[in-house]
Amino acid sequence: MEKIVVGVDGSKGARQALEWAVAEARARGAGLVVVHAWQQPTAALMSPYAPLLADPASLVETAHKTMTDSLATVDLTGLAREPERRIVQGPAAPALLAAARDATLLVVGSRGRGGFAGLLLGSVSQQVAHESTVPVVIIPPAARSNSRPDG
Ligand SMILES: Nc1ncnc2c1ncn2[C@@H]1O[C@H](COP(=O)(O)OP(=O)(O)O)[C@@H](O)[C@H]1O
Ligand SMILES: [Mg+2]
Repeated sequence: MEKIVVGVDGSKGARQALEWAVAEARARGAGLVVVHAWQQPTAALMSPYAPLLADPASLVETAHKTMTDSLATVDLTGLAREPERRIVQGPAAPALLAAARDATLLVVGSRGRGGFAGLLLGSVSQQVAHESTVPVVIIPPAARSNSRPDG
């Protein structure tokens, strides 16, 4: 079975990427793997309050909530099977690249939650575009669902 991997971070860009990936998985009868990577915020690690700010249990909880909330916003009907949810500790781009090694497509939004205003691509979308060995789809902000006129 074909496999489509999509990255989510709770942002609007990621939601649009997820919507596109779901529609594509439906059209192809492909399996869908939804990846969310989380890590200790670097700024918190360098602060004297690090133990308070970066409580690992709450970070894990937030990661699960991000995954659940992301999937709750899209219509998952018509998929060949229930999407696989993968929550990974570590930087996002390597997590996505690893999950997509044997995939048909890797789908990301052009931008995510963070980064600097004005960039066309965020660091994660840029890194996967450079390093992926499978085709990458980068969903720009204005893109709509790829539902096809012929079904
Ligand atoms: N932590 C993450 N886990 C999984 N996918 C992610 C993560 N962060 C970003 N992505 C994916 O990469 C896309 C672009 O995000 P990113 O490059 O981080 O932009 P920004 O710099 O605006 O945050 C997101 O829309 C999402 O699809
Ligand atoms: Mg980001």
